[in-house]
Amino acid sequence: MKLRLLLVVAGFAAVAATAEEPFVPGLGDFMGATQVRHAKLWFAGSERNWPLAAYEVDELREGLDDAARQNPTFKGIPVQTLLSQYITQPLADVGKAIEAHDEDGFQQAFDRLSAACNGCHQTAGHGFISIKRPTALPVTNQRFTPDTP
Ligand code: HEC
Repeated sequence: MKLRLLLVVAGFAAVAATAEEPFVPGLGDFMGATQVRHAKLWFAGSERNWPLAAYEVDELREGLDDAARQNPTFKGIPVQTLLSQYITQPLADVGKAIEAHDEDGFQQAFDRLSAACNGCHQTAGHGFISIKRPTALPVTNQRFTPDTP
């Protein structure tokens, strides 16, 4: 009887421990969101919707920072170091073009950003994940054209 009670208690403790363990999204989960934001950034910038484009740059930066915080290493690869090495500058350049309302500069900086994504993928042994300019809207339930062009 005593043993049975002990087992029940132990069982509850095990369930509680599992429930309390926080879910940590993997790097790939963050990358899915990154991919959508990257596409939204393109359409926002192409439509000269500068506030939305600036917002997507911030979201990209925050999302990638969170990715590195939750996954400091990925299969032995130092994620934060690679982020700083590849993404920080190209993302800042996109931000500058947006601030300057420079459409050509935006497109060039966007391509350098995509190349930076791919540079990190190659270094991380995931060169088969190849990022480019999107050709279709990532979603159809959001407006990318600005209210006042
Ligand atoms: C720190 C280096 C690094 C940078 C910078 C980086 N990635 Fe990734 N990315 C990875 C790794 C590593 C994986 C594989 C993750 C996994 O398998 O869990 C990945 C996976 C992906 C995937 C596949 C996700 C899936 O579920 O199919 C996409 C899409 C992606 N990245 C997009 C991007 C985009 C867009 C950028 C640039 C804005 C970017 N990545 C920047 C390292 C990086």
